[in-house]
Amino acid sequence: MFDSQKVYSGSGNSPGHGSDKIQEVEIADLRKITQAVKNCYGYDFTEYAMSSFKRRIQRILELYKLPTVDHLIKKIETEKAFFEEFLPEITVNVTEMFRDPSFWREVRDHIIPNILLNHETFSIWHAGCSSGEEVFSMAILLKEMGILDKVNIIASDIDKPILSKAEKGEYIIKNMELNEKNYIRFQGTSTLKNYYEEKNGKAVMDQSLIKKVSFRNYDLVRGGVFNKFDLILCRNVMIYFNQNLQNSVLKKLHESLFKYGYLAIGSKESLIWCEIANKFIVVNNEEKIYKKIKE
Ligand SMILES: C[S@@+](CC[C@H](N)C(=O)[O-])C[C@H]1O[C@@H](n2cnc3c(N)ncnc32)[C@H](O)[C@@H]1O
Repeated sequence: MFDSQKVYSGSGNSPGHGSDKIQEVEIADLRKITQAVKNCYGYDFTEYAMSSFKRRIQRILELYKLPTVDHLIKKIETEKAFFEEFLPEITVNVTEMFRDPSFWREVRDHIIPNILLNHETFSIWHAGCSSGEEVFSMAILLKEMGILDKVNIIASDIDKPILSKAEKGEYIIKNMELNEKNYIRFQGTSTLKNYYEEKNGKAVMDQSLIKKVSFRNYDLVRGGVFNKFDLILCRNVMIYFNQNLQNSVLKKLHESLFKYGYLAIGSKESLIWCEIANKFIVVNNEEKIYKKIKE
């Protein structure tokens, strides 16, 4: 929940403002923003982590040269197209293929072989998949293991436009340099270039990689449990939530896992402080991979 910190809307020297005075934004203003979003679009950001939320609001005010929070609220309430740009600013969709290559090596070398000991086919949920780089990484990994056809994948995100991007699988060619570097560190058996074609300055991913992937617009805050999985990746998503929201989302993720299923979170996240920590064991502390041991 919001505390009594003050938030500053930036230098105030943007065109349209005409002054160097820093606008001070009160916590009450932030509450007004989350309320307006909730009323107009249903999304609930009241339990997103305060520090990051205030930085993002500040950035939006500067980016759109909005002198006050009231201007921002009006824009949210009256311009749906603006809200579509506002949403990713708040929810953050930075991602890359084979992000943290050692994590992907661990998934390939230990986690999936362990799942395969008891299951011929299994299911994976990418919760907060952003533009799909994580999903293509998984598909490439599974293809190289020769088991892509045996795995059902659900990839979800709160942000519809970013989800369409994931389904399309078209990326700026320049970004493929980092993806390729990660892939090399992952020690894949091929080269990333084998999985995409270059067309009009874009890397167009091989669509056969995602033929068994269902993309779903799903909000981890408001959504209920909809299926059971053997492996859930919810990486670099809850880092933007406060402790209370992390606890409630982790309960849903726990319920969405089969017993002895695996949960992977981001490298800077931890399950240690959450209410259901005792229902998991740590499988790999470095890579933040946990196993559900209790219902
Ligand atoms: C930083 S990206 C992480 C992408 C990917 N998992 C990775 O680690 O590279 C965070 C993603 O979480 C999504 N997200 C944020 N809040 C969400 C929510 N309440 N429900 C579902 N997805 C959410 C964002 O839209 C964004 O695509």
